[in-house]
Amino acid sequence: MTDSFQFPRGFLWGAATSAYQVEGSPLADGAGPSIWHRFAHVPGNVHGGDTGDIASDHYRRYKDDVKLMRELGLQAYRFSIAWARVLPEGRGKINRAGLDFYERLVDTLLENGIQPLVTLYHWDLPAALDDRGGWLNPDIAHWFADYASVLYRALDGRVKQWATLNEPWVITDCGYLNGTHAPGHHAAAEVPIASHHLLRAHGTAVQAYRAEGRHDVGIVVNIEPKYAASDGALDRAAVQRADAYMNRQYLDPIFLGKYPDELREIFGAAWQEWPDEDFKLIRQPIDFLGVNYYTRSVTRHDDGAALLKASAVRQDALYSATDWEVFPQGLTDTLMWVRDRYDNPPVFITENGSAFGDPETVEGGTLDDPLRVDYLKQHLRALHGAIAQGCDVRGYMAWSLLDNLEWAHGFSKRFGIVHVDFATQERTCKASARLYAQIIASNGGVLAVEE
Ligand code: BGC
Repeated sequence: MTDSFQFPRGFLWGAATSAYQVEGSPLADGAGPSIWHRFAHVPGNVHGGDTGDIASDHYRRYKDDVKLMRELGLQAYRFSIAWARVLPEGRGKINRAGLDFYERLVDTLLENGIQPLVTLYHWDLPAALDDRGGWLNPDIAHWFADYASVLYRALDGRVKQWATLNEPWVITDCGYLNGTHAPGHHAAAEVPIASHHLLRAHGTAVQAYRAEGRHDVGIVVNIEPKYAASDGALDRAAVQRADAYMNRQYLDPIFLGKYPDELREIFGAAWQEWPDEDFKLIRQPIDFLGVNYYTRSVTRHDDGAALLKASAVRQDALYSATDWEVFPQGLTDTLMWVRDRYDNPPVFITENGSAFGDPETVEGGTLDDPLRVDYLKQHLRALHGAIAQGCDVRGYMAWSLLDNLEWAHGFSKRFGIVHVDFATQERTCKASARLYAQIIASNGGVLAVEE
């Protein structure tokens, strides 16, 4: 390979985590329980009975973790705030000790020259708000804006980049339709309602930021490009439904002010129309779009598939431990699609990474993860290709800094570039972390080296 893979000057290189997945100590220092704390403690919900009680112990080890980030040369760290640490009841009284944790984390990052990227909501709703209906209660848009304002007042300036929500599609699909995530509902009719209130909450939090904040606010979505299994009309229509449901359901309202038409067909009688003023709220300008990219799906029409009448066709390709096809070209395609459909907004890749079968313990102090190394290289080359074609991508956050609680998979799936031994909490850089350090140091240059 002779191409130059230099990234634009100022391109931001970092890694990401989320609160419930890494922090541990979920009830420490006056925090309230979240829906994930509650859900994980119900036997059968999480693989192996794993919970976030200790997780990667980041709440207590954050200083060492920041030191590690610095050793790797990370320029940014994307993490999320646990709403119930700051507001144990979800609203009302502020828990100073919870807020202090994030102040200390942010200050430690800044002292080490690492830029904090904050996500306000990465799935751990305060349980007290779920008791009031959670994302199904229209009032949540205001609860969320009030919570966001507490953080803006405390941290804006030190934090210059805020994301409202992480992956609203996963929140509704796994939390309200399939029940595999908290709060564990199985109700198709709830999906469009939860989606709409998530989008309204995003809108109120952006509005609050314009009143309180001085830097950048955006949202993080996962995009999974859909390719038709054949040229037939039925498969092409199935692709449109799958794409509307997973990708356009959230981005169209934010950028275009309306839902995709296919959603009416998908939800049938459960679909409702919402007032115009909601779309004004949802469609406010944002400063950046966070894109999480992991895989694609090749889609075909399937009468037996509930809701979408579409299903994925397995490819003759490499699949990761979470059974996701490794398809780097999908990252280029995704970014070109965002460029063309939504008028080339500034984008950060806020997550990209893979789980492969790493061992639970490390022998001899080093750990080779060739499949992850390859995944990282191929996806960064694909990202470079999108930038070369005019996509306005400003940074890349590897998922994940640390092995962590992979939601319903518990600790059985490892996405970290840094290995965590969950028995001892010892951290070991995998080969992918060492490669990533070289990529950062050369601003991508090392990606041109022949294998
Ligand atoms: C989420 C992460 C998750 C990762 C891998 C994304 O859907 O934002 O929390 O660990 O993908 O599944």
